[in-house]
Amino acid sequence: MKDTLKKVAEEVGACRRCGLSKTRTKAVPGEGPAHARIMLIGQAPGKEEDTAGRPFVGKAGRFLDQLLRKSGLDRERLFITSSVKCYPPRNRKPHAKELKRCRPFLDRQLDIIKPRIIVLMGDTAFHSFFPKENLKKYRGKWMVKDQRLFLPTYHPAAGMRFPNLKKEMQQDFRKLAIYAKKK
Ligand code: URA
Repeated sequence: MKDTLKKVAEEVGACRRCGLSKTRTKAVPGEGPAHARIMLIGQAPGKEEDTAGRPFVGKAGRFLDQLLRKSGLDRERLFITSSVKCYPPRNRKPHAKELKRCRPFLDRQLDIIKPRIIVLMGDTAFHSFFPKENLKKYRGKWMVKDQRLFLPTYHPAAGMRFPNLKKEMQQDFRKLAIYAKKK
């Protein structure tokens, strides 16, 4: 049977594959259209996302919205998700085991959407696809792997705290918008 984003979201909501399922309020599968050309991937839901069940609705999300607006990108047309779909207590980094257990959901979302561009925001998302590379070296540069096109950048939570990173993130999102309009 054909896999769908709805089916993935339902399975994420009922998932018990790792310990995060015991402490989460709501799982956060991600949101956006099935035909999105751009997919944004973060690290893991934060406290506000855990309450809302929606990705990037907290402080980092508002900063992300600002970046998107300034580059002329419409949030409604993107698919936004994270490497791990449940809130890690006290906002800690997800453990390797949690990332591994959650990964099939992300892979299925990628297979369904087949985005033209995948934006990896921060170390966790970047290392999910390029485990041996250094984000600093590749941020803002197009990367191709397994016939997929990636644009690595910083995580919005870092961009909103450090003015130099904010500037680089703005450049990256402008680059993304220019390319997306051509394609
Ligand atoms: N950070 C993430 O990586 N994902 C969210 O949904 C929110 C904050």
